Formats: sequence, C-alpha cells, structure tokens
Amino acid sequence: MDGFPDNRLPAHGLDADAVLDRMEVLRADDRDWRGGRVFSLVYNAGDDVLDLLERASNLYSAENALNTMVFPSLGWMQNDIVTITTGLLGADRMPGDEGGGVGGFLTSGGTESLLQATKTARDWGRAERGTGRPNMVLATSAHAAFEKASHYFDVESRRVPVRGDFAADVDAMADAMDDDTVLVVGSAPSYPQGVIDPIPELAGLAAERGILCHVDACLGGFILPFLGRLGHVTKAWDLAVPGVSSISADLHKYGYASKGVSVILYRDRALAGLQPFITTNWLGGLYGSPSMAGTRPAGPIAAGWAVLHYLGEDGYLRLAEDAHQAATAIKSAIVRIPGLAIRGAPDATVFAFGGALEGAAPDTFALGDALAERGGWFFDRQSPPDSLHATVHAGHRAVADQLVADLDAVTGELLSSGARAKDRGTTYGTI
Ligand SMILES: Cc1ncc(COP(=O)(O)O)c(C=O)c1O
Repeated sequence: MDGFPDNRLPAHGLDADAVLDRMEVLRADDRDWRGGRVFSLVYNAGDDVLDLLERASNLYSAENALNTMVFPSLGWMQNDIVTITTGLLGADRMPGDEGGGVGGFLTSGGTESLLQATKTARDWGRAERGTGRPNMVLATSAHAAFEKASHYFDVESRRVPVRGDFAADVDAMADAMDDDTVLVVGSAPSYPQGVIDPIPELAGLAAERGILCHVDACLGGFILPFLGRLGHVTKAWDLAVPGVSSISADLHKYGYASKGVSVILYRDRALAGLQPFITTNWLGGLYGSPSMAGTRPAGPIAAGWAVLHYLGEDGYLRLAEDAHQAATAIKSAIVRIPGLAIRGAPDATVFAFGGALEGAAPDTFALGDALAERGGWFFDRQSPPDSLHATVHAGHRAVADQLVADLDAVTGELLSSGARAKDRGTTYGTI
C-alpha cells in the first residue's frame, strides 16, 4: 500500500492518521468479536467497559511496572487487585484463620500464573522434601500451560485420564502419585469441557500426603464467585477448601479486563515467598521481580484495577447472570436438537459440543464450518472427542437466540446431506 513498505522501516516517518488508517485496513479480516459471533479469546462486557479499559490503559501506556518505587500507583493498584481477588476467592472462609496470611501477585495471564505455580511447587519440593526430579499429577483436561511448565521447569507431568463425565478421576490420580509428587492440580472449571473438578477430594489427597494443590481457576475465578451467589453453581472450588495451597484467576477473562492480567494467590506468605526472583549476581545492583517478565506493561494493571471498580459486585453479578442465561439457552438447544450433544456436564458458562457420539449425528467440524458460513459464528475446534468449544460471556446474551436458530437449521441440513469436513485440524493457539 502507498507509503507502507512491507517488512522494512520507512525511510521517513509517516503521518499518524495514515498509520492508524492502515491498521484499520490490516484488521479488516480479523473476526468481529463485537457482534457476539466469536466464542473464544475475547470477553465482552459492552462498549462502556471497553471505553473505560482503553482510557485507563492509555493513562499508563508508557509506565513500567518493573519498578513500583518509581511508580507507586502501580504497586498500590496491584496490591488492591490482589486483595480484592483474595476476598473473591474464599480467603475469609479459609479454615483455621481469616485468610490474613494469603499472599499473591499479578502475572501477565493464565499461562504465566500456571508456570509460577509449578515452579513454586518445584522449589518447595526441593527445599522441604529434597525432591530431585519432582512430578505433578493432573487430569488430561488440565490446561496445556502445565505442559509448558513441565517442559520449562523439568517437573514431570503425570496426566491421568478423566472420567466419562470429563471430571478428574481422584482415585486414578491417587494411584499416579509417589514420593516425588509435589503438586496435585484441579481445574475450576477445565478449559476443554468446562467441568469443575472434585476440588475437595483432590485437595484432600494433597493434604493427606503433605504436598501442594493448585486450583486452576484462570477461567472461573472471576465468574464462579458470582454464579455461586446467584445460586447457579454449588460445588466447592476455592481457597476455603482445606488443602488448596494456591489458586489462579484471570482478570482478563471473566473479569472483563484488557489482556495481560491474572492473579495467583498462595494460602500462606511463606509459600508465596518462593515465587519472586532476586539476584545480585550481575553488575546492575539488586534485581528483584515477582514474576517471569522483567519490564511489565502497566496498561493492563491500570485497566484491570479500573474495571473492578467500575463494575463492582452488582456489575459482575449482572454480567454473570447474562453469561449464564446465554449459556443456558444455547446448551438447552443443543440438548433438544436431535443429533447434537454437550460433552459431559459443564458447570458454568464454558462447554464443548458437537455431533452426538451415538446415533445419527452431523460431523462436528462440518457443523463448525456451516455455522461460520451461515452466521459468521466462530468456535474453536478440539479433540478428542471432536468438539466445538464455546466460551460464553455476557455479550452473547443478545445473540443466543439467533445462534440457536442457526444451529437448528444447519444441523438439519447436515443430517440430510451427511457432509463431512475435509479439514480435521484442531489448532488452538499459534503454530
Ligand atoms: C483453565 C485455563 N487455564 C489457563 C489458561 C491459560 O490462560 P492464558 O491464555 O491467559 O495464558 C486458560 C486459557 O483459556 C484456561 O482456560
């Protein structure tokens, strides 16, 4: 395009409006999530929230959260976010104390929180148990980020098949443990099928053996507390469960914040103290950092703090109810439409669905293609079993009925045509 050389720095700087116009052109092919047609990656609480996020983030576009002595407001906002999250995740219901010893940090997202939880468990195992090659025991439904953690930190990942309902199999996980097991993982809910694992039983196993238990509530941490208050979820999953030693919750998911902010909490400060990295072994002085990155963007912290205060309890309750209503409408339709099925029994607003695994059914990936073609609907594909994945947020309430109508129509067409998608790929992420 005029004035925009590909893969080369322009010899002379370009006009700011022209640069922004060019970006509008570039993103013309991106999925339009604002209209509610995308069921992945983005959580939309409405234009007012988006506007606030942009303004808060702009205020801090240049600041660096590496050094909160230079920018004390960033230290203050981080502490405030951690403390608010501590309250949401059950610290005041913790047995034995009032949660006053809970310590935590912000990270850049769910993956970083899970990396930190795994590294902390490894370091705890080394320090407390002298464990040379530690392992962690987790269900096959636990997030892929644990494999990354296993790879980065040399903690063996012992994956245990889920039960028929896609929940973690506690007995089989107990059998997979040995003296080198330092960490048991449960999800609340799991990403693939949206199931809350039996956290009390998993945490009980950890407590019995005197090891750590991490609850991955990256997905659920900012919606389950509100779904619980609304009476839509009754399972126990948070810090109040005896034996849970750490928990992660992503503000950039159902907290409706901008991308780049998650919270990890530890049951006590001694355990939390294993997370930060400190060194003097270079020529630059005492270097300390609480998480993986050095320089950290301040915009997501500011936007995260702003959205918590803008929405407040009543805002999050309203958004949780909207997401619940949308998810319930879509799930009920899937159960009703012949040939379709939900995978397992999802607990919240995330679920997987597709052609029924028994009897006459449309090809699941052909269903995804047909939905995209008919209404521009986007669902991630996953396997096994072949499924479409739906992360339903508040912004979907307005389009749920339209989706149900399209689901009805394309399922009928596929059942009569028997069409099958050629592309069987299930990439989630960037390859
Ligand atoms: C349960 C769960 N854990 C961890 C993650 C990883 O989060 P992120 O993509 O923010 O790194 C996700 C992402 O969807 C998730 O659903």
